[in-house]
Amino acid sequence: MKEIFTDIPSSILDRMKALESRDAREREDGTSKLNRLRQIPPETGLVLAALAATAPAGQMLEIGTSAGYSAMWLSFASREREDVLITFELLPDKVDLARETISKAGIEEFVELVHGDARGHLSSYDEIAFCFLDAEKEMYEEFYDLIVPRLIPGGLLVADNTISHEKELADLLKKARKDKKLDALVLNVGKGLLLCTKRK
Ligand SMILES: C[S@@+](CC[C@H](N)C(=O)[O-])C[C@H]1O[C@@H](n2cnc3c(N)ncnc32)[C@H](O)[C@@H]1O
Repeated sequence: MKEIFTDIPSSILDRMKALESRDAREREDGTSKLNRLRQIPPETGLVLAALAATAPAGQMLEIGTSAGYSAMWLSFASREREDVLITFELLPDKVDLARETISKAGIEEFVELVHGDARGHLSSYDEIAFCFLDAEKEMYEEFYDLIVPRLIPGGLLVADNTISHEKELADLLKKARKDKKLDALVLNVGKGLLLCTKRK
């Protein structure tokens, strides 16, 4: 896993910096929520890459690609696992940006982008080892119900914004903490990561 922390190729680093600048600018200049990139911060990317790299063998998913910033971080885990991240994005403009990211970063081998509503695709995945959930908060419970039964033992569901949106996600947090199929905890990283591990 050493490479995740020390050896980021310049093609990826350059694209990360460009997207970080754009994301920061959009947070200040009044760009609408729909159009903003709404990316994770780098510290969250690092934790996600480390978690995904050490998840058991199985499918690796991301819900909510935006321009592909978090997918670049997760591509380090794909490379480590000799696997491919499947990432879903609903909006055509974001899909175009993510395609540009995948090409400019040179991560075609490690990331497959699917254009569409992830809710319509998840029934095709029955051996999920890692899933990063970063879509609209009002859909989180629906996604939870779709993903948790499809996690393999030891598999991880990681959901972002569980501290920044604690009130909106209170029901989900309660549900995850009471779920006997899982161990659940919130990591104080970035905007707060809910980490659910399927019991063996
Ligand atoms: C917070 S942004 C994702 C940011 C990205 N994970 C990153 O850190 O670079 C949420 C994205 O989820 C997408 N999205 C929302 N609902 C979706 C759904 N049902 N299926 C697929 N994508 C969805 C939105 O269009 C938006 O681009």
